[in-house]
Amino acid sequence: MGLVRDNILTMTGYIPGEQPLDTAVIKLNTNENPYPPSPRAMAAVAAVTPEQLRRYPSPDALTFRRAAAKIHGVSPDMIMTANGGDELLAMVFRACVTDGQPVAYLDPSYSLYPVLARMQGAAPVVLRYRISGATWDLPEEIFRVNARLLLIVNPNAPSGTLIDLETLSRIISSFSGLVLIDEAYVNFAPHSALPLVAKFPNLVLLRSMSKGYGLAGLRFGYAIAQPQILAELHKVRDSYPCDAISIAAATAALEDQAYAQGAWDRVNTERRKLTEELSALCFSVPESHANFILAGMPGGADARGIYEQLKQRNILVRYFALPQLTDKLRITVGTADQNRSLIVALKQMAGRPVEIPR
Ligand SMILES: Cc1ncc(COP(=O)(O)O)c(C=O)c1O
Repeated sequence: MGLVRDNILTMTGYIPGEQPLDTAVIKLNTNENPYPPSPRAMAAVAAVTPEQLRRYPSPDALTFRRAAAKIHGVSPDMIMTANGGDELLAMVFRACVTDGQPVAYLDPSYSLYPVLARMQGAAPVVLRYRISGATWDLPEEIFRVNARLLLIVNPNAPSGTLIDLETLSRIISSFSGLVLIDEAYVNFAPHSALPLVAKFPNLVLLRSMSKGYGLAGLRFGYAIAQPQILAELHKVRDSYPCDAISIAAATAALEDQAYAQGAWDRVNTERRKLTEELSALCFSVPESHANFILAGMPGGADARGIYEQLKQRNILVRYFALPQLTDKLRITVGTADQNRSLIVALKQMAGRPVEIPR
């Protein structure tokens, strides 16, 4: 008899993007915000007292939930916090599916979903995007799929494409199980599914502080949903999922909306520039509403080869050896300087003249 369950023995765990120790690397591979968190978040970390660390933290992060409720125009019992969006996903899988039960998700999307499905012994129902050049169309099956859980990343990772609210409403109305809309990148997008939460008791929104608020190192995420479903998710969480330091920092960062909005605006401006420049180099780029873009290779160029060559130049982007993605690279939008270095490197690799910025 094995020491662990058979499905754990036979599965491959999630493989995160590289996190090099060398800080000189231009890191455009794991969708971190290129800008630091709000100074108010850093001040909140510095103000944490020994007494706060001696005690257990608030089990339900009430200060954060109150702040989030105010910002999103909902009540605090419609917010639940977690140690990162990933932990929230694990909780949803734990609460909703067990052996052999169907879990539906779009593909390509977040590569953690199949791993969580395997962990629970669930049966994945893979809904494949119909991809043609830079166009990503939803598969028709999404309007009639039968499963206990349906996961939709919006804006999608790794394409950055965005589903409109009317289509989301149609999908949720036609689905009998729980729908999780993963809004890890929504701060860079023109709309959120927040207005749908009041309408659908089977909807949970996932939010992350990692991308929009520059706090990937902190590990903090939260759910927005109707209180009845959150009460069920509460039963499967850790005793104290968020620590005192992260609650303080995440609350301060969330409350500093003006600072966060400034970073989102700058990222979006850079994303537009990067998209134009990559398109001019003949990469095929779907319109992204996130803080990354997905670059389809020009003229059948080898995506893995370009990834390797960029790495040799100290620039990390993300290559996925996954169906429909082997001819593409996902590139996080960096600072203006980082993006310029990327474009200069790509031009040099293609033997194109490089303008030296003044
Ligand atoms: C689509 C998607 N959802 C959720 C997450 C989890 O975010 P975190 O656990 O950092 O809050 C990520 C992180 O990369 C992601 O890409």
